[in-house]
Amino acid sequence: MNINGKHHHAIWLNIQNPFVVDVIDQRVLPHKIEIVSIKTTDEVVYAIKEMVVRGAPLIGVTAAYGMYLGCVEAKDKLDAKTYLNEVAQKLNATRPTAVNLAWAISEMLMVINKTDDAEEKIKIALKRAEEIKQEDIDICYHIGQHGLKLIQEIAKNKKGKTVNILTHCNAGWLATVDWGTATSAIYQANQAGIKVHVWVDETRPRNQGANLTAFELNQQGVPHTLINDNTGGHLMQHGMVDLVIVGSDRTTRNGDVANKIGTYLKALAAYDNNVPFYVALPSSTLDFTMVDGIKNIPIETRDENEVKYIQGLENGEIKSVLICPETTPAMNYGFDVTPARLVTGLITERGVCDASEEGIRKWFPEKF
Ligand code: MRU
Repeated sequence: MNINGKHHHAIWLNIQNPFVVDVIDQRVLPHKIEIVSIKTTDEVVYAIKEMVVRGAPLIGVTAAYGMYLGCVEAKDKLDAKTYLNEVAQKLNATRPTAVNLAWAISEMLMVINKTDDAEEKIKIALKRAEEIKQEDIDICYHIGQHGLKLIQEIAKNKKGKTVNILTHCNAGWLATVDWGTATSAIYQANQAGIKVHVWVDETRPRNQGANLTAFELNQQGVPHTLINDNTGGHLMQHGMVDLVIVGSDRTTRNGDVANKIGTYLKALAAYDNNVPFYVALPSSTLDFTMVDGIKNIPIETRDENEVKYIQGLENGEIKSVLICPETTPAMNYGFDVTPARLVTGLITERGVCDASEEGIRKWFPEKF
């Protein structure tokens, strides 16, 4: 999608140096547009952990490039196989909830392990990382096509009046490579001339909604309004939300959805107010090995300072300020799990399905 009218991806191979991977630094958006050039696997680990890049699909694509850089580093190692397994492990340990990470690493290991030749490994790894990136773009486009039909239907029922969509966190193009998951249908509806308006949850503590989703929608010219995290229920009670679309970091084979903390509360409010609650996700976010998300999905706990401090712009400078007594302890769960029963449907690249084992099986029979 566009930044200042110019098309961008969230990650790309450096044009001058094919051993360098460039990403947009998401820690400083929307105030600054800065590119970080990643040269080593340690830098990939840092970028994912510290959320220079974030969002489940983009974490996966970044890890795929990380494995490619691992192959470059492995060239000088005595035992390349052990080295690459160590790289895989350290990448895998960066963030626990988004299953796309493990998926991308295992895709990369599968091709890398096909040869013992160091140069060949590098070539194969780069090819697969570029493919995973392109697949992500195509998948997100198709998720948008399927989601578009839902928005078209609502627009038809509303006789062309504005469709109000609420989203949480950033499941936009910055969380993928292009298009986004939850936002893809919104962008495509907007491009098709359907009147849409997006309620953007700020998404404390890191404010991915305020910083990233609002930035994206603004850049794409999609009408939107920022709301604090507690507003959604009130809007739903007053008929001001037609549809909720969120992303996911991991969805179990029975349809339980892990997504950014606070998603569950939006799903409860949507359920109580008969507002359709959809989850847009690529199949790389489906964990076909897991059931019962509440019990089994590992939930990331992050530094308490993300809750105690808030980042913003003052006199052109990005600053962080304390918002509670310094000694007050804080708890920072990154994600929660919305049980399948609260989810109206899953919007995947193959089509929309029920959030249930039967529903998911319909589009992905080969995984069962
Ligand atoms: O902690 P983050 O910013 O990586 O969390 C991101 C989310 O929760 C997104 O909604 C999810 O990854 C889906 S992105 C298409």
